[in-house]
Amino acid sequence: MKSLAHQSVEEMGGAGSVLSRQKRDHVKLDRLLGRLGAAPPAEQNAVLLQIYRLVFPHAYAEETVLWPVIRRVLVDGHELTLQVELEHQEINELATRLETLEQSSAERHRVLERLVELLREDVRDEEDKLLPALQMKLGVSELRRLGIAWEAVRALSPTRPHAIVSRRPPGNVLAAVPLTILDHCRDGVDSLIRGRTGAASSPLKGLSSSLARASNALERLPGLRRGEDPSTRRGTARPPWAAAAIVTIVAASVALAMAGRKTGKRSSNGAI
Ligand SMILES: [Fe+2]
Ligand SMILES: [Fe+2]
Repeated sequence: MKSLAHQSVEEMGGAGSVLSRQKRDHVKLDRLLGRLGAAPPAEQNAVLLQIYRLVFPHAYAEETVLWPVIRRVLVDGHELTLQVELEHQEINELATRLETLEQSSAERHRVLERLVELLREDVRDEEDKLLPALQMKLGVSELRRLGIAWEAVRALSPTRPHAIVSRRPPGNVLAAVPLTILDHCRDGVDSLIRGRTGAASSPLKGLSSSLARASNALERLPGLRRGEDPSTRRGTARPPWAAAAIVTIVAASVALAMAGRKTGKRSSNGAI
């Protein structure tokens, strides 16, 4: 088996093959990790957000689309994919932990170092083992079809760490849409926070935290944890009504806030 690191685009089945699409993202990640290593502490969070937007949808779509195929076509598919799922699980936990740590703490430095180490390990496991093994079993047209499916799911996948949701279908498939909506709302709120300080940013920070709590509650819904291997299962279940109530309240607040902003804009433009 030849590692993807040493294969040309043609060998991998062309630019549309799932192997080429994976490798392109891995190369982008390598560049971003280089930037993170060179960034002063005050600029690390901005680079980390770019890394999250690349890595979390990429990995979520692997878990929902690619690893089930590997389990189906390879005799040792379960062991191979479980190893990568455990890496993904720890990456989600470390990124969630980072959000709670002070910029200057020694703990943050340790967590960040481990996160970078794991991201690099994950790429090596995929490029050296999983994906070349998949390549031995599928033809070029299947690799291209899988590339389209993975890319489509990636576009609709969560952009933030989620350490509780199932790493396997059907739980992660059911959770994808609600978690992605909440993550995109949070991405929008966080982009409004940047550039504001003090009292101007406080309500937005509160809304961002509410969205994070809503995701956390939603992940605990029993149906969204189905299919999980016991070794990646985390957290305790909560009654479904609690999660549903939180999600409804937050979604309503975001919708109202957005409607308010739109109305304000149209009024000030004199459009109505
Ligand atoms: Fe990957
Ligand atoms: Fe991965």
